Amino acid sequence: MSQRQNERPARVTTQTLQKMKQDGEKISMLTAYDYTLARIVDQAGIDVILVGDSASNVMAGNETTVPMTLDHMIYHSSSVVKGVEKALVIADLPFMSYQVTGTEALKSAGRMMKEAGVHGVKLEGGRTIADTVRRIVNAGIPVMGHLGLTPQSIYQFGTYQVRATDDEEAEKLLEDARKLEKAGCFAIVLEKIPTELAHKVSDELSIPTIGIGAGPDCDGQVLVLHDMLGLDKKFQPRFIRRYLDLEQEINDAVQNYIDDVKNKAFPNENESY
Ligand code: KIV
Repeated sequence: MSQRQNERPARVTTQTLQKMKQDGEKISMLTAYDYTLARIVDQAGIDVILVGDSASNVMAGNETTVPMTLDHMIYHSSSVVKGVEKALVIADLPFMSYQVTGTEALKSAGRMMKEAGVHGVKLEGGRTIADTVRRIVNAGIPVMGHLGLTPQSIYQFGTYQVRATDDEEAEKLLEDARKLEKAGCFAIVLEKIPTELAHKVSDELSIPTIGIGAGPDCDGQVLVLHDMLGLDKKFQPRFIRRYLDLEQEINDAVQNYIDDVKNKAFPNENESY
């Protein structure tokens, strides 16, 4: 066990993240969608695991996150929760599970907590969802916000390019962040916005910001696990840092296995009964 793991409290909580911001300690967050990888990521010492609706892309092969349902997210989230001992586990509420009415949003968040066992939920959007956030928080469910490039709105944006590059959108994002904090969010993800704006938001808010493509000044960073492990070489936006070339490694391993089977080298005597 690493020294870092020994130093961690039994469970990372929303209060832990708040203290990390106050102490200037950066927050590490990665996505996970299944038991096996969640267990490995947790044991490596990650602070927060996000069961992102990016599962739609990397697990289900969809082009966008829009098709994801609450049942899909509950399935992935309950698998992740079983593998995690220390990290805070947050799950995305999927598209159309929280936008129609506050009552429906609260029911969706409640199902995620009761059926999957996550520790909080993430919602995309600013002032338009502030009342919904308040309602969920008032029911005792921690809420993480998400501003900037919010993938559930991709058909409104039209592209996955950097958001809030002009003054008007930047000011709107800053005001949205203030409103989410006031509504009770414990943290906010800032996706694909200029470094300077992310710096400003992080400075002004007392809750932590977690950046993805938002520069180094956020209080924490998040990446999609499959991206940082190098599982899809074709997907290469500049904000991703690859820590492994797992696509190549898996390809090599599978080719070796095929060769062994074809050459009758597997199984050998020790691998047989
Ligand atoms: O769904 C997801 O993985 C996310 C992260 C990119 C923040 O929302």
